[in-house]
Amino acid sequence: MTELLYPVPAQAKQNSHLTPELYEEMYQESINDPDTFWQKQSSILNWAHQPTKIKNTSYDKNNVDIRWFEDGELNVSYNCIDRHLKTQAQQTAIIWEGDDPSKDKHISYQELHDQVCQLANGLKKLGVSKGDRVAIYMPMVAEAAYAMLACARIGAVHSIIFAGFSPNAIADRINNCEAKVLITADEGRRGGKTVPLKSNVDQALTGNRCKTIERTIVLRNTGSDINWHSQDVCWQELIQDCTSICEPEIMQAEDPLFILYTSGSTGVPKGVVHTSGGYLVYAAMTHKYVFDYQPNEIYWCAADVGWITGHSYMVYGPLANGATTLLFEGIPNYPDINRVAQIVDKHQVNILYTAPTVIRSLMAHGTKPIQDTERTSLRQLGSVGEPINPEAWHWYYEVMGNKNCTIVDTWWQTETGGIMMTPLPSVTELKPGAASKPFFGIQPALLNQDGEELSDEAEGNLVIKASWPGQARTIYADHSRFIDTYFSAYENVYFTGDGCRRDQDDYYWITGRVDDVLNVSGHRLGTAEIESCLVAHPAIAEAAVVGFPHDIKGQGIYVFVTPIDGQVTNSELTKQINTWVRQEISPIATPDLIQWTQALPKTRSGKIMRRILRKIAANEHEQLGDISTLAEPSSVQTLIAGRLNKA
Ligand code: WT7
Repeated sequence: MTELLYPVPAQAKQNSHLTPELYEEMYQESINDPDTFWQKQSSILNWAHQPTKIKNTSYDKNNVDIRWFEDGELNVSYNCIDRHLKTQAQQTAIIWEGDDPSKDKHISYQELHDQVCQLANGLKKLGVSKGDRVAIYMPMVAEAAYAMLACARIGAVHSIIFAGFSPNAIADRINNCEAKVLITADEGRRGGKTVPLKSNVDQALTGNRCKTIERTIVLRNTGSDINWHSQDVCWQELIQDCTSICEPEIMQAEDPLFILYTSGSTGVPKGVVHTSGGYLVYAAMTHKYVFDYQPNEIYWCAADVGWITGHSYMVYGPLANGATTLLFEGIPNYPDINRVAQIVDKHQVNILYTAPTVIRSLMAHGTKPIQDTERTSLRQLGSVGEPINPEAWHWYYEVMGNKNCTIVDTWWQTETGGIMMTPLPSVTELKPGAASKPFFGIQPALLNQDGEELSDEAEGNLVIKASWPGQARTIYADHSRFIDTYFSAYENVYFTGDGCRRDQDDYYWITGRVDDVLNVSGHRLGTAEIESCLVAHPAIAEAAVVGFPHDIKGQGIYVFVTPIDGQVTNSELTKQINTWVRQEISPIATPDLIQWTQALPKTRSGKIMRRILRKIAANEHEQLGDISTLAEPSSVQTLIAGRLNKA
C-alpha cells in the first residue's frame, strides 16, 4: 500500500489556528483533563447561561447516559444567526447555486434572520411549540436551512427526510418520531429534472397513514400544479403576515435539536438523536479547525441537507462560525461534467468538501473538462463518506487542487455528530487514503474479536474509549437499541461498526464496515432493510443482499433472490424487482445486480451464509474458505456458475 507522505505546505501554515505543537498540547489536555479543555472550548458559542458542569457520561451498558454542558442554556439559531448581526449583518450567510447555472442567490445574515424568524412565527401560528417534532422533506433550496433554523429557534425538534426517499420511507420516519407538522415543497429540481415532492408526501399521508401530522407547509418552489388538501398551507401565505421578530427560545444544553434516521445492520432505520449544546460546540469547533476556516472565506460542502454532513457542515457548523456557506441545488455533473469546478470558479470557493464517489466519477472523464477551469481560489479540500482510494486522492490533489491544497480525509458517522479522525491542514503530514489522527477529545482504540485492545501497528474493530460532546445521546424512543447497537459488543466503549488499521506512524486507516451495512456512493444502506423490501414482493420467497466492489460507487448492491414456488423468472421480472426497490425505498437503494437462484447457501441451522455470497458477488469464488458446514454444499456451484459480476 502507498504510504507517501506529503509535508505540510507553507500556504497551510499562514494564519493558521494551529501549529503541530499547539495541536499536541491541546490534544493532551483534551484527553487528560476533558473538563477543563471543553469548558474553555465551550466559549466558541454564546450561552444564555454559561455551563459549569461539563462532562457527565457513562458507557456502562446497564446505564448508558451521555450529558455535556448540562446546566448550560442556549439557543442554536441565536448562535448561528443573531450573534453575527452586530458585525456582519450584510455579509453573505448562504450562497444558493441553482440546478440551472444561470440561477443563484446571496442571502445575508440579516435576511437569514428575517426569513427564519418569519417561519418560526408561522410554525407557532400552527401550534408548534418546544419539544414538538417537525419533519422536513425539502429540496436543496435555502428554505431547507430556514426550516431547520426556525425549528431550532422555537425549540422544536426537526427530522429531515432525504428528498430521494419514497412515500413509504417518509411515512415510516414520520410515524416513528410522531411529527406534528411536515414541511415540504411542490417540487424539487435536480439535474434538469423535477422531483415530485408534494406528490410523494400525498402518498405518504394517504388514508390517514401518518396520524400525527396536523398540517403540511408547502413551499411554492417550481410553481407547478399540485393537489392542495385541507391540511396543507402554502409557505409563502403562512409567513405573509408574520413579523421578522421572534425571540429565541432558551434551551437546556441537553434538549434535543434534531433526529436523523440512519440505517443499521438490522431492522428499520434508527432515529439518531442529537442535542443542542454539545452538538453545536462540536460542529463549530471541528468546522473551524479541520478546515482551518478563516473569516470571509467561501466554504462549500457539497452534501445534501438530508444527511448528517449537510446538518453539521453545510448548516450548523459554518453558520455558528459566521461563515459563508454555499448550498448547491443540483448534481455534480449537470449540465456539464465539470460543474463542480465551474461553481468553484464562479463563486471563488476557498474550501471544497465532497465525497470520493464524486471524484471518481469525474476521473472517469479524464482531466480535460476540469482543466478547462481555473480553481485558483481553492485553498483546502475535504473528503467524506467512504474510504478514498489513493488514485482518487491523487487526482483530487493534483487535478482539482492544482497541487496547492491540502486534503482532509474526514472519518465520522451520523452518530458521532462531527468529524472524529482527520488530518489537520497546518499540522498533519498527509498520507493518501488515511483518516490519519484523532480530533481533540477523541480516543480511538482497535480491538480484536475477543475485545482485547491491540497496540502499535494493528488492524481491528474501531472503538472510541470516551465520550465527546457531539456524540448522539440515544435512538429516538428506543434507548435499549442504542445500547445494544453501540455499547454491547464491547464493554465501556463506543463501537463504531468500522474496521481500521493503525500504521507505524500511528496513522489510522478506515478499512470499511464490519457489519451488514453497505456504503453505496457514500450513502449508508442496511442490507436487512433492502432484504425486507424484496421479500415483500409477491414473486420473491427469500432474499440476501451483499455489497461488491464498484469502481465509481465504492460498493454496489448485489441481490440474490429465490422465486416463490413455480414462478418463472425472466428479465421482465428482474426489471420489476428493480423498480419495486426504487419505489419502496429510494433510487439510492437500486440493485446493481440481481441473481435468481433456486436456493441460498445456508447452515444446517438455516442461517444464510453471507460470507460465501460476498465472495461470489466479488468474483472471488476461488477463495470461499470452509463450506463444510453448509446444508447443501452443491448449491454453491450453481450460484458460482450463474454469477453476474465476472469482471
Ligand atoms: C460510515 C458512516 C460521516 C458523514 C457521512 C457518512 C464511512 C465516513 C469516511 C472516511 C472511510 C468513511 C464509515 C462510517 N465513512 N467517512 N473518511 N473514510 N470511511 O455518514 O451515513 O453515518 O456513514 O461511513 O464506514 O461508519 P454515515
